[in-house]
Amino acid sequence: MRTDATQGSISRARSQPEFGRPPVRLPVDRLTLTAVEHLLRRFPGLEGFPRVDLGVRPTPTEEIELDGFPIAVKRDDLSTPVYGGNKPRALEFLLAPRPRRVMTFSSLLAYHAYATAVHAAGLGLKTDVVLVRRGRESEVTELAEALAARFCVVPGVTAALARALAWWRPGTRVVPPGGACARGAVGTLAAVFELEQLPRRIYVPLGTGVTASGLLAGLMLREAVTEVVAVRVADRVAGWRALVWARAFRAAALLRRFDPQVPRAAVGGVSLRVVSADGEYGQDTSSARATVERLRAVGLTLETTYTGKTMEVLLRERMPGALFWHTYSRPKALRTAEERGFWKVTPM
Ligand SMILES: Cc1ncc(COP(=O)(O)O)c(C=O)c1O
Repeated sequence: MRTDATQGSISRARSQPEFGRPPVRLPVDRLTLTAVEHLLRRFPGLEGFPRVDLGVRPTPTEEIELDGFPIAVKRDDLSTPVYGGNKPRALEFLLAPRPRRVMTFSSLLAYHAYATAVHAAGLGLKTDVVLVRRGRESEVTELAEALAARFCVVPGVTAALARALAWWRPGTRVVPPGGACARGAVGTLAAVFELEQLPRRIYVPLGTGVTASGLLAGLMLREAVTEVVAVRVADRVAGWRALVWARAFRAAALLRRFDPQVPRAAVGGVSLRVVSADGEYGQDTSSARATVERLRAVGLTLETTYTGKTMEVLLRERMPGALFWHTYSRPKALRTAEERGFWKVTPM
């Protein structure tokens, strides 16, 4: 296996304190290949691994500087032209093979439900959405409702299960909340293969933890020496390290079942640190709002629930070699089939 663990070599930008400066593209020569193409080059036996094409494209790593502190940013907010962020990477695997209908669950903030409904619609599929009354209502709640074939808000997990049982029919694919399962983690696992330089640490929001698991799995397969700093914004249980690690190992094992060339994942130099974010889930803290404003000045759009709180931790720690995994894409109303895009079902 190629050992590709160039450490901490993120190039420095000129200092311009206070306002920082607009992101600068680092010379990244891997951008011509998608994450999946990288994976296939490395492990050709994964050819038959079920995947649908949602138009996920390679995302650049850029560098920003805030108060003289350089930060690399993996622009996964740009992961698809229709609706990017961390979700489509997972959905390419969760919606394969193409089902007849989709059902999923989210909190009131509903980014996951929205992303699922948008991308399922791009495949010509209807999505039923069950929201659990957690977090706060926002514009995404309405956008998800507008896209869903059936939509309801329930008080808790038991009611969500009851509704799922009532709605389920043969052929319905149940996508777990946040896409949190080993298959969902494969999307981010593949994205790790897009990184030209493996950073010393990656800051990522932790909601359900599936993105963090994907990072751990991809980093293990690349034999990296990297710390994943997962900023927990939601339930404590989602941040249990054993849970996040177990999902990472299962994701790597899933690939290994298709291609024995995929090595058995080993922790090696990869580590996980879970940090609790300030405030309750969905709480719009003044410090998260200030961070979002600060980043707007350098041309990045964050929000206050996930990415703002994660960037806040990164800026507080100011550890060298930091890469921020940008998971947020701004939802918008997508009314026509053209706006949603249409992606053919293709084997990986
Ligand atoms: C913008 C954003 N970032 C991060 C997350 C959390 O990702 P995960 O559930 O994989 O931990 C979410 C989940 O909805 C999200 O919408």
